[in-house]
Amino acid sequence: MSKGPGVQKMFDAIAGRYDLMNRVMTLGQDQRWRRFVVQKAADPGKGWALDLATGTGDIAALLQQSYPEARVVGADFSRNMLEEARKRFSNSPIHWQACDANALPFADNSFESVTFGYLLRNVDDSLRVLQEVRRVLRPGGRVVCLDTTPPARNMLLPFVRFYFRFGIPFMGRLIAQDEAAYSYLTGSTMDFHTAEELALLFQKAGFSEIGFRKFMLGTIGIHWGKKS
Ligand SMILES: C[S@@+](CC[C@H](N)C(=O)[O-])C[C@H]1O[C@@H](n2cnc3c(N)ncnc32)[C@H](O)[C@@H]1O
Repeated sequence: MSKGPGVQKMFDAIAGRYDLMNRVMTLGQDQRWRRFVVQKAADPGKGWALDLATGTGDIAALLQQSYPEARVVGADFSRNMLEEARKRFSNSPIHWQACDANALPFADNSFESVTFGYLLRNVDDSLRVLQEVRRVLRPGGRVVCLDTTPPARNMLLPFVRFYFRFGIPFMGRLIAQDEAAYSYLTGSTMDFHTAEELALLFQKAGFSEIGFRKFMLGTIGIHWGKKS
């Protein structure tokens, strides 16, 4: 069964508490990672920049703030998340668009950059989404992906596991009043590609100049690449 409908319902349900939960769960680090994403996406000039799975719009807003001449599109398939984004950034010229990352309603070669935060963990076929992203990028355009990464096997693993297994779902119950959504975050992180595997998928999707960097004890990965 496809993950899509369940994921959509889950984000529609937690939209109102999503930002607060993010700040607490990441110990206030989440915006720093998004700023790194925006820096890696680079200035599109007067061109178009797409932030896919934009959620409540933080990456889209940072893109618009950093590159004021850019025409930014924030896209997501959860209407409630998009509604939060619209409310939060009502003074911004960002274009908000409801759509599914598996089948983007944009022409080939439309965007100078495509960013996405915490999308790939939620789709059935990461390669298919990466190929779709590549299709809508202009030659020379940049892709930047932020996501959680399964923790590495090292001395810190027991602590990281404890935080993911118990800390995050507990905070999910307390703050977002939805323990299941945050247990899902833990499960989908543990089952997700390692950073090295994801870099190989970027290569398979046809990107070049691929790189990645890990953050927060190796539990967050930011990958980038170029459509040559
Ligand atoms: C964890 S939130 C991330 C939001 C935002 N990128 C951020 O940095 O906070 C994941 C978002 O991905 C969206 N999403 C998941 N699968 C999607 C798909 N197939 N197409 C479009 N959006 C999707 C969800 O609706 C949700 O808003």
